Amino acid sequence: MAATEKEREADAAAAVEAIELPLLLEAIFQRYGYDFRAYAPASMKRRVHRAMQQEARRTVSGYQERILREPEAMARFLDAVSVEVTAMFRDPYFHKAFREKVAPGLRGLPLIRVWHAGCATGEEVYSMAILLHEEGLLEKTRLYATDLNARAIERGKQGIFPLKHMRDYTANYQKAGGRGTFSDYYTAKHDAVIMRDFLRKSITWAEHNLAADGSFNEFHLIVCRNVMIYFNRELQERVHRLIYDSLAPGGVLALGHGESLQFSLLEERYVAVDRAEKIYRKIR
Ligand SMILES: C[S@@+](CC[C@H](N)C(=O)[O-])C[C@H]1O[C@@H](n2cnc3c(N)ncnc32)[C@H](O)[C@@H]1O
Repeated sequence: MAATEKEREADAAAAVEAIELPLLLEAIFQRYGYDFRAYAPASMKRRVHRAMQQEARRTVSGYQERILREPEAMARFLDAVSVEVTAMFRDPYFHKAFREKVAPGLRGLPLIRVWHAGCATGEEVYSMAILLHEEGLLEKTRLYATDLNARAIERGKQGIFPLKHMRDYTANYQKAGGRGTFSDYYTAKHDAVIMRDFLRKSITWAEHNLAADGSFNEFHLIVCRNVMIYFNRELQERVHRLIYDSLAPGGVLALGHGESLQFSLLEERYVAVDRAEKIYRKIR
């Protein structure tokens, strides 16, 4: 059946956009140094479209012009592409498995260094700090929380979260094997809560780009959950290499449910601590 005029126009528009999208990502890299060239194309396309709508731009080329000339538009693009969906004790059974299978092995260390790579606004970092506190390990732990998005990092550092989420977080905390009362870990004020000082003091916050930056320490635990799902295979491999190089011998890696070591060249350098919860230990 012959294509209608409308279908032909749509095909032509899609073909032009297939040229424009890589050009936009290249332009962003050259102008600002943020490297999105190796992100999974389908989800990047969706996010660029969302950003274009916010800027009232109809074509990617028109949007590119704005991004190149207005750094503020770049900051808004970062917000649009960094998917910040997160929660405290997200995937409670991961935290339960961590408590039972990983925490005991950390007891013998004189000092514990933890890296949360792609931590968004920090909910997962506070969850880990609470867990380590309950296991008697927080005093000798330093948590490093990094993300590409400076605004997310700033919010994490403040440790202020909406009160309305606390009911769900309390349920998660209990399922995760929480030993205390969740509300003891924050102070509520109006419609927000602020995390307790001793938790905030255990965390160091920094901007770090997994697509471009290198290792900055050696860690006993690296948590990189729900971040690599947005990357293509090549970039995933880069990040796996960075993580591997940043882990101490016997160190532990925690990935998100949708992620895996399965296709990585480094798979055989790890053993699964809990396969379902995507917790692995570096063995060589
Ligand atoms: C869906 S959130 C996951 C947050 C948290 N890890 C969790 O599982 O709840 C993904 C985060 O990855 C960050 N991210 C995306 N690309 C990144 C990169 N190249 N380097 C560092 N962080 C990145 C985003 O800014 C976002 O905050």
